[in-house]
Amino acid sequence: MIVLSICNHKGGTGKTTSAIHLGAALGLSGHRVLVVDLDPQSFLTRMLGIADVPTAESSLVLFDHEVEFGALPTRAMPGFDLLPSTGTLTKRMRSLNKPTDVLWTKEAIEQNETYDVILFDTAAAVTVYSLNAMVASQHVVIPVTPEYQPVIGAEQTAQTVAMVRERLNPELHPPHFLFTQVDARKSAHRKYRQYMRKRYQERVMDTVIRTSASLARTYDAGETVFERDPYSRGARDYANATDELMQRIQDAAGGNGAAWAAPAPAGAEAPPTPQPLSSAANGRQAPAAPSHAMFDNASSERSSST
Ligand SMILES: Nc1ncnc2c1ncn2[C@@H]1O[C@H](COP(=O)(O)OP(=O)(O)O)[C@@H](O)[C@H]1O
Ligand SMILES: [Mg+2]
Repeated sequence: MIVLSICNHKGGTGKTTSAIHLGAALGLSGHRVLVVDLDPQSFLTRMLGIADVPTAESSLVLFDHEVEFGALPTRAMPGFDLLPSTGTLTKRMRSLNKPTDVLWTKEAIEQNETYDVILFDTAAAVTVYSLNAMVASQHVVIPVTPEYQPVIGAEQTAQTVAMVRERLNPELHPPHFLFTQVDARKSAHRKYRQYMRKRYQERVMDTVIRTSASLARTYDAGETVFERDPYSRGARDYANATDELMQRIQDAAGGNGAAWAAPAPAGAEAPPTPQPLSSAANGRQAPAAPSHAMFDNASSERSSST
């Protein structure tokens, strides 16, 4: 079983689009795939034409001891099964505040015998849900658009991956950065790719997802670009990204890249800004490493309770 999370602490970087199309491409290539929407805003669920999901039919069932993995209320989509999200995730978040509450999805999917790949879409924040996804995963894909804030968000997400590897899930591999909404004609886009390559080297995927009108359009019920516009560059780019990702996952099998450490937050090396560099920008603070109360306690509470 391969478990993947799609994360970037910044919004609008193509997480949901990537979750749908990586999931669909994996399904088309013969894998049995479950896509789980763990974003309380439910954009993935909505993009697939589903609304008003009752709590008992949503991804919140993964946070309920009573529900068997074999009886999950999934819905069939083209290429994958979907466990949709609901706004109730926001309400429930308030009661998921114990350190061990980051372990729900990991424990729930241990019973999986149905799927080859489980893929989590997450919100643009460090929440108990995105931590659940990372704790359950072996791999994290960080979609990043070649712009200042998404790059900072991607770097912060890499720091979170490093913390989860260290404290909560040693099976988590170093992240895979996937550039999305790339326009090769823009020199700024090239600069951000160069910056990320320099800092993260082979962690940056070779394949990029270019801007594609077919990807930007809203979807009719349950449709992906592979049904609607299979020869578009959106379809081709996601098919190539899926192949590259599976190759990377295969290559990583057997080791977890133990030598990898997330580079220190950028200081002098800070990414190019959209404006000309001013003296104020030169002294800009490096992005702060994300913090979450659960990091401090989860592993210790876990070990003391077992
Ligand atoms: N490659 C692309 N080309 C053009 N538009 C895109 C592309 N990828 C995503 N989009 C659009 O950008 C917006 C944000 O994408 P989304 O996947 O929802 O990001 P996130 O989940 O990170 O917030 C959406 O309107 C989506 O349709
Ligand atoms: Mg999203």
